[in-house]
Amino acid sequence: MNVSVIGAGYVGLVQAAGLAALGHRVVIGEIDAERVHTLEGGDSPFREPGLAELLKSGTLAGTLQFTTDNVAAIKSARIVFLTLPTPEGADGAADLSIVEGVVDEIGGKLEPGTVLVLKSTVPVGTADRVQEHLDQVGTSGIVVVSNPEFLAEGSAVSDFMTPSRIVIGARVREAADVLADVYQGLDAPVVFTDPTSAEMIKYASNAYLATRVTFGNAIANVCEAIGADVMDVLRGMGHDERIGHHFMKPGPGFGGSCFPKDTKALVSIARAAGYRFSLLEGVIEVNEAQHHLVVDKVRAAAGGDLTGKTVGMLGLAYKAGTADLRGSPALELARLIHAAGAKVHAFDPAVQSELADIVMVGSTMEAARGADVLLIATEWPEFAEMDVEAVGELLAGDAVVDARNLLDPAVVRSAGLRYWGVGR
Ligand code: UDX
Repeated sequence: MNVSVIGAGYVGLVQAAGLAALGHRVVIGEIDAERVHTLEGGDSPFREPGLAELLKSGTLAGTLQFTTDNVAAIKSARIVFLTLPTPEGADGAADLSIVEGVVDEIGGKLEPGTVLVLKSTVPVGTADRVQEHLDQVGTSGIVVVSNPEFLAEGSAVSDFMTPSRIVIGARVREAADVLADVYQGLDAPVVFTDPTSAEMIKYASNAYLATRVTFGNAIANVCEAIGADVMDVLRGMGHDERIGHHFMKPGPGFGGSCFPKDTKALVSIARAAGYRFSLLEGVIEVNEAQHHLVVDKVRAAAGGDLTGKTVGMLGLAYKAGTADLRGSPALELARLIHAAGAKVHAFDPAVQSELADIVMVGSTMEAARGADVLLIATEWPEFAEMDVEAVGELLAGDAVVDARNLLDPAVVRSAGLRYWGVGR
């Protein structure tokens, strides 16, 4: 099938490269000429396992093409996927101006019969509003369909190839079938529904997962206060099939480009519809407080005052397996610690960027050297394997704050260091 993908961000590139691998001809429209140049040169602008290989093979085979001209990109496309940013607006609601701008740019140029797919996470009701808008400006025969993505960074390519489900929200059955056809070859349940429900599936899924993480963090905080070990508590809970062991790892709070934005957007969607989603408001509040709890531990570990102290930070990315700093709790911790008067020396195996208020160093050992407190903020496996004795010798102080519960507290203590975890 001839398909077009507008927006070469994470979601767009994985979608485009994945569809090319399924045998479709894909043209990507992307306004950033530099990014198009990178892609044409066979490189991936993101660190994402498997993506570079997939992009390269599509580009070499000619099944994947790039252009800065969106109108050229949609020419002869049967399906047009919009994979565009929907940043958080001032009031927490998703800002749709980029999506609307592109719809206005290409709407009049689409062939009758084209399926226009909203893949970005958009406020509930957006697909219907875009449909109404296209109908009003006299663009006939275009069907707007909601097909939310469920890709997690670090596993996005395999999430595309082996999806947990494919959700298709359409008001016209033929359009839904065309979209289902494009995914033929993927072994996944297909959920056919209306666009509003499809949009809600995405928000509800992310809100549930964010709530689950936050529940784990809140239980960790209680465990810490009463002298229980949250890791044992979660292990004991997880054997109940209804609960399970996954996605409840305590840490510095959830982050990333989706959960913080989508939870706030859902609160705002519910409020606009007359329902106060106080449960989710609580989740957001508990999550933000979780950052401060970690900073409190770092302060306590530094003797009660961070002024003039040095904190060695391990990890800046919002989770292991990515270089992404968007919504990163680690970055927030670094900022709070710096604002409290400490110097921050940070090492992240995937992050090389220059960052305000942070001195970047090249290894775990360098981050430890001369630090009063060592703080583990991202769960990179190599941090779990550090030589704790050797690290301890480089520290100026004797304290480790393990905001990801990566290390064995007994090992840290036997190296003569003090240990703070989350909920243990
Ligand atoms: C998420 C969803 O998983 C994905 O389906 C959606 O499309 C986009 O948002 P992503 O943001 O890439 O993907 O990361 P994910 O692995 O889900 O983690 C989100 C956040 O929760 C991270 O900050 C992570 O560190 C945190 N988390 C996750 C925990 O603190 N504990 C856990 O047990 C799991």
